[in-house]
Amino acid sequence: MKYEKEISRRKTFAIISHPDAGKTTLTEKFLLFGGAIQVAGAVKSNKIKKHATSDFMEIERQRGISVATSVMTFEYKGISINLLDTPGHKDFAEDTYRTLTAVDSVILVIDSVNGVEAQTRRLMEVCRMRDTPVIVFINKMDRDGKNRFDLLEEIENELKISLHPMTWPINSGKEFKGVYNLHDKNLRLFTASTKAEDDDEDVYSISNLSDTLLDAKVGERDAAQLREDVELIDGVYGQLNASDYLEGKIAPVFFGSAVNNFGVKEMLDAFIQIAPIPKSRETSTRTVAAEEDKFSGFIFKIHANLDPKHRDRIAFMRVCSGKFERNKYFHHVRLDKDMRFSNPYSFMARSKDVIEDAFAGDVVGLFDTGNFKIGDTLTEGEDFYFVGIPTFSPEIFKELVNKDPMKTKQMEKGISQLTDEGVAQLFTQFGGNKKIIGCVGELQFEVIQYRLLQEYGAACEFRTLPFYKACWLTSKSPEKLADFLRYKQQNSAEDKDANPVYLAQSEWFLNTEINNNPDIVFHFSSEIHK
Ligand code: G4P
Repeated sequence: MKYEKEISRRKTFAIISHPDAGKTTLTEKFLLFGGAIQVAGAVKSNKIKKHATSDFMEIERQRGISVATSVMTFEYKGISINLLDTPGHKDFAEDTYRTLTAVDSVILVIDSVNGVEAQTRRLMEVCRMRDTPVIVFINKMDRDGKNRFDLLEEIENELKISLHPMTWPINSGKEFKGVYNLHDKNLRLFTASTKAEDDDEDVYSISNLSDTLLDAKVGERDAAQLREDVELIDGVYGQLNASDYLEGKIAPVFFGSAVNNFGVKEMLDAFIQIAPIPKSRETSTRTVAAEEDKFSGFIFKIHANLDPKHRDRIAFMRVCSGKFERNKYFHHVRLDKDMRFSNPYSFMARSKDVIEDAFAGDVVGLFDTGNFKIGDTLTEGEDFYFVGIPTFSPEIFKELVNKDPMKTKQMEKGISQLTDEGVAQLFTQFGGNKKIIGCVGELQFEVIQYRLLQEYGAACEFRTLPFYKACWLTSKSPEKLADFLRYKQQNSAEDKDANPVYLAQSEWFLNTEINNNPDIVFHFSSEIHK
């Protein structure tokens, strides 16, 4: 337990939201509080604007920015905070899901006007799979939003999580007057501010809501409304049980306005108090405790070099236990090979620094010349791999067609490396040798086509295939599985690790096959094969 002190001061989390809810703005305010940046506007929005679907410069820009802001490490009140960035664009959702495997908790930003949106739902599903503790930030209270109680009900119903308000807003939009902190029992009046000082000028301690100071500050009508609301909240929500939050059952809720830096500090203060420190993680053989002396970690993201002359990449590794050290040999479990790293990076808000060591919760950038795949585990010699880093079924499938037979080798290498990075999934059809690329969004096909040409000199095009879902197959009876694959050759393929996959044209076909083949198990994520 040599490293307990280091671990107890680390919090690793991600901010997630539907695009435009305010993730970038909130990130920036956090960094201001952490002293990692000095001026507002320093964090560039990393989203690809909607019109930029075919704007490759925009894709390149995105790649450049996202490396710089992939992990932002800053200190706040003695706590070392690792904030992992997630891409906003829905076509990069898979990237976001993987990043969520490397965090210990999340802050979910919801736009008070739009409420729960498509991406919010999908992101929460991923959080629920891992029981990730969630704090909710209801943003844009300076705009006329939905009724607060309705909004909470909508979030609870749609995201299937119980909520617990930590602050309560007084009106919204032009009438927004501030928030009452239900736990610290104080009132913060709304002021638009972009500063990051510990500015408590507009905070009034009101431990008893019958205090006439409340009427003086917000007016009699709003004071009466707040008293009524709080009575209702106390009755419905009771006390926050910290272990329910840590188990992912209850999400504390804060109201505020990120752009006005309002309600952000309250949340950050609560975050450093209640958010979990690095926890134990499951592996293929045993549970690995964060406090263990021996090092272990896994790769959750791989980023290609922007310079096509240098094909090296950066692999992002989450440290799960022990101490990672520069120049020390560690064991790459999948390749059964010992490796050391002379230039491991840590990520500050705006720059990368070579580090000597890192502890559980930290994210280290490793130069990679092609040794890593997403999900790879490094240890001090023990053979196990971390579980819970699944690949989900893609949503769009296309055949990869080589336009230049002279460049077949380059194409093969390129597509292999791009799929190792997790840009897309590669399936090879049984019987033929058709290469099938599966992605979450159309944009990724454009990225692949562009990068194959730019980085590998290989020209390709795509032919749309009529599949809607990939299911990984297992069976207790190898014969039955082999029969099925032979019989369904047109719909059968193997993934990059040679696992059999069934490609279904529609839900109807999928259900029919599931019903007709009780000896075969259809899995909706690749986890089963790890
Ligand atoms: P995202 O990363 O989740 O996609 O959202 P981002 O922070 O980029 O915010 C999306 C838009 O919402 C931005 O406006 C931002 O200024 C605005 N915004 C963020 N927080 C608040 C808030 O509390 N109140 C209001 N009214 N607006 C907020 P934009 O016009 O798209 O961009 P910009 O030109 O302001 O940068």
